[in-house]
Amino acid sequence: MKGEGEAGGVMDRHQVRLRVNGTEHELLVEARRTLADMLRHDLGYTGTNVGCEHGICGACTVRLDDAPVRSCLVFGVQADGAEVRTVEGLADGDDLSDLQQAFRDHHAMRVLHAWLPDAGRGIFCRTRARPTCAPARRAAARGG
Ligand code: FES
Repeated sequence: MKGEGEAGGVMDRHQVRLRVNGTEHELLVEARRTLADMLRHDLGYTGTNVGCEHGICGACTVRLDDAPVRSCLVFGVQADGAEVRTVEGLADGDDLSDLQQAFRDHHAMRVLHAWLPDAGRGIFCRTRARPTCAPARRAAARGG
């Protein structure tokens, strides 16, 4: 689908269907829109953070068909037909997972380049996040 962009140029939009944390979504996405921006701004999954936007910090990591990806480096259209899991997917309804609760309790900034439901493994605290992230990670590994 072609339309006019904000600057008057031609904007190329594509139909994307994907499942995020078990919920089906269908939307029109600009070809250049990153998966991170699509998740945050178009679908409201704001747990996907953006830091460097260069694939270095890992703040934007999500699971795309069970593989961790830097969503700032993936176009939203590449997620067509995919299963995506964001950090919100760790919760059980309104109940936070042990990992989420520990991060909340320790005011930890989620800057990780791989997270796993079984807390403690695959989590890497980077630079400024380390003072709060590491205690939260240990608490989560103990079960809260
Ligand atoms: S925002 Fe830093 S790796 Fe994506």
